Amino acid sequence: MRTTFGMGIVGAGRIFEQHARAYAALGARARLLAIADVDQAQLQKVTARYFIPYAYQDHRALLERDDVDVVTVCTPPVLHERVVVDALEAGKFVLCEKPLAHTLEAADRILAVARRWPGKLSTVYQFRYLPEVQRTLWLRDQGRLGRLMFGRFSRCARFETPAKAGKPGKVRTDWWGRWGTAGGGAVMTQLIHEIDLMCHLFGRAIEVTAAMDTLKAPIESEDTCAATVRFESGALVCCYATMTAHRSSSAFDVVGELGSVHSPWALECMDSKWREQSLRAVLAVHPLSAERSSVPAGLAVPKDGGCRSGRRRRAPRWRSARPFTPRR
Ligand SMILES: NC(=O)c1ccc[n+]([C@@H]2O[C@H](COP(=O)([O-])OP(=O)(O)OC[C@H]3O[C@@H](n4cnc5c(N)ncnc54)[C@H](O)[C@@H]3O)[C@@H](O)[C@H]2O)c1
Repeated sequence: MRTTFGMGIVGAGRIFEQHARAYAALGARARLLAIADVDQAQLQKVTARYFIPYAYQDHRALLERDDVDVVTVCTPPVLHERVVVDALEAGKFVLCEKPLAHTLEAADRILAVARRWPGKLSTVYQFRYLPEVQRTLWLRDQGRLGRLMFGRFSRCARFETPAKAGKPGKVRTDWWGRWGTAGGGAVMTQLIHEIDLMCHLFGRAIEVTAAMDTLKAPIESEDTCAATVRFESGALVCCYATMTAHRSSSAFDVVGELGSVHSPWALECMDSKWREQSLRAVLAVHPLSAERSSVPAGLAVPKDGGCRSGRRRRAPRWRSARPFTPRR
């Protein structure tokens, strides 16, 4: 049996770097063998930087390689269907960047093909693996949260960042926010992560009420959305995302009958003994050492994750450099 998997990536744009670095981190278990991109200059740049032996302008040439086992799809959403279907038909394992497709119809067509290749297609929803999400799942499954009743998931993002001394500004890609290529704006590219987490944690959604608008950005679709979702279990969850923010952030609250979990990480229970036991149990399985950049800079997380020894500690909070005083 092969012990080193051959990896191929289609699309060498912004998100490509994250995948290339992730494969490098897998050491001997994976080797990035091939890249495909229609842009020749981009191909040259990334093959040199990441020592990728084979480069193609047509993704079908990459798919012909027998040594490529896994194909990661990093093209703009409108192209996902074509590449994913071709890769599945070529017998590859496929990891497709979110969203799976830019329309429901395209997603249904992909799923119809994927059913013929069970277990071979997966979509990138990396936030599922954040420690606070893993802890929430564990606490839920151990019955430590009780019946889930309410949730809130949010994401605030900035469209573009201005240039700073010696550092170029960040400009959004030209396909962003276009119905025909991206399938939407803030919902399809930002809130989609929260929608995924919501369903991952709460189960099947049965009713959605939402308002969306284009408040700031000159795009075809929406830059802001606020929604309320009813789940089959009876739970109510609200979620919102905007691209109009001045600082990027994300957060969630999951409220159960016995306890609530929050991101940035905190666990709260009215019953202090239950909280203490639950915290110790969950941190033994998903320790704080696994905490990473999902916790914004400046946020104080107690070293014991909020476990108390005697005196009650406060839940982690935003810490600002100095209090804001409005001018009169
Ligand atoms: N998981 C996340 O958090 C996350 C973050 C950013 C982007 N993404 C997703 O990754 C995907 C790519 O986003 P991006 O920001 O890297 O876009 P990008 O525009 O920076 O890169 C896309 C690349 O695909 C190439 N391309 C276009 N048509 C092609 C074709 N037919 N064959 C091969 N290559 C082709 C382009 O030349 C470009 O280099 C999108 O689906 C996006 O939603 C996910």
